[in-house]
Amino acid sequence: MKTEHIVVVGAGQMGAGIAQVALQAGLRVTLADVSKEGLAKGAERIKGGLKKLVEKGKLDEAKRAAAEANLVTLTDVKQAKDVDFAVEAVTENEDLKRRIFQDLDSVVRPGGILATNTSSIPITRIAASTKRPESVIGMHFMNPVPVMQLVELIRGAATSDETYNTTRALSEKMGKTTVVSKDYPGFIVNRILIPMLNEACFALMEGLGSVEDIDTAMKLGTNQPMGPLQLADFIGLDTVLYIAEVLHKGLGDSKYRPSPLLRQYVDAGWYGKKSGRGFYKY
Ligand code: CAA
Repeated sequence: MKTEHIVVVGAGQMGAGIAQVALQAGLRVTLADVSKEGLAKGAERIKGGLKKLVEKGKLDEAKRAAAEANLVTLTDVKQAKDVDFAVEAVTENEDLKRRIFQDLDSVVRPGGILATNTSSIPITRIAASTKRPESVIGMHFMNPVPVMQLVELIRGAATSDETYNTTRALSEKMGKTTVVSKDYPGFIVNRILIPMLNEACFALMEGLGSVEDIDTAMKLGTNQPMGPLQLADFIGLDTVLYIAEVLHKGLGDSKYRPSPLLRQYVDAGWYGKKSGRGFYKY
């Protein structure tokens, strides 16, 4: 199936990253966001990312210029035309995502695909808000998108083989390796990662070790690039808490209950790197 023009909805860190790797793959990309300011910031982030690749010798100047020329920005996604594939990457708000999917249903050409970068909302439920649930799929990128090699693909109850195969081929064109997960809470990555980060919060709360010792233990003891508390700050403590709650509610097992310390930090507005304070100060 043709995937030449893609729309990315949401110009935040994830959306901009997805748009960047799509541009690097030679696609035409429309980046849409209701916030003019957010859109400008996202476009700057993409241009900066492409420039950095040229400086490192990983992209030649002609390809950078072509990629930049292939980027269009819009504040109203409904103005996009001839769209083959859409990736929604807005904040984890189910009502908002459903509304966007209803818009995308009329924007993406018949037979085109509607993908969501959600880390925790059931694909089957998002798909049910459209007229084409067979063309809806989870396409979960990891942060930072230009660096991380994985895309997790999630098939909803109605996702067709054609939708899955096309999305897999597109992910590979973007230089990513894919895995496929069932549509269960947290999918694969967050089902396993979030309990580890949450456990690090419990360990800190119980005084098992200091922030630095917990992170150093896991970094040097298990060869992870970041310690769990640093990674939680990097993802955003509000996001970690949100996914922990999804696991707790969706799987119904008390072993997934969020750490009270994590909740307290979020209550305090200490969201991690993005707010200037989390387990560390930035
Ligand atoms: N955008 C683009 N490139 C970036 C980047 C960004 N935001 N951050 C780092 N990089 C690049 C650097 O330019 C550098 O590239 P070169 O090797 O070509 O020079 C490379 O990544 C390594 O960066 P640094 O040397 O600056 O720093 P580092 O070695 O500490 O790596 C890191 C940074 C890649 C973020 C690394 O610490 C890491 O892999 N951390 C774990 C990230 C992770 O687990 N992400 C998944 C989170 S879970 C998720 O996303 C799912 C969810 O739903 C919550």
